[in-house]
Amino acid sequence: MSAKAPIGGGFTLIDQTGTSRSLSDFRGQLVLLYFGYTHCADVCPGDLRQIGDAVRALDATGEVVQPLFVTVDPERDTPEVLRRYVPYFHPRLIGLTGGVETIRNVVERYKAYFAKVPLRNSSGYVVEHSANIYLIGRDGAFLGSLPPGTRAGRLAEAVRQKLS
Ligand code: NI
Repeated sequence: MSAKAPIGGGFTLIDQTGTSRSLSDFRGQLVLLYFGYTHCADVCPGDLRQIGDAVRALDATGEVVQPLFVTVDPERDTPEVLRRYVPYFHPRLIGLTGGVETIRNVVERYKAYFAKVPLRNSSGYVVEHSANIYLIGRDGAFLGSLPPGTRAGRLAEAVRQKLS
């Protein structure tokens, strides 16, 4: 075992309705946490679709799984933008945003990564980011993560193992 700093921990952010939400609000549920941004062309929508499908597959066991999408692009991903985006993947997916420094702090504590990369021929930018899917236990503790591209079936299986 290595002596690395523990991954994860609580946070308070703003959801797509403008309401303050903390990780501790979801005590008793297993949380699937994903960092990304709504302008992401490919990776985020693909992974969020798998997360949505996994939660749909697990809903037979009750609403014990809460998917969370934390933006790494808080300057563009306002609550209004998230409100239009998250229902596309699952009706219970919660989108979270906040101040740039708050987001940076959460990302660092989960050992995730993001960086703004300017586009060469426009004033726009993309955000490079890690895209692991984090499992957080009913007590708020980090349980593990799955790599980007994990299929819904594998994700649901990993959740079931943690619930049993
Ligand atoms: Ni992405």
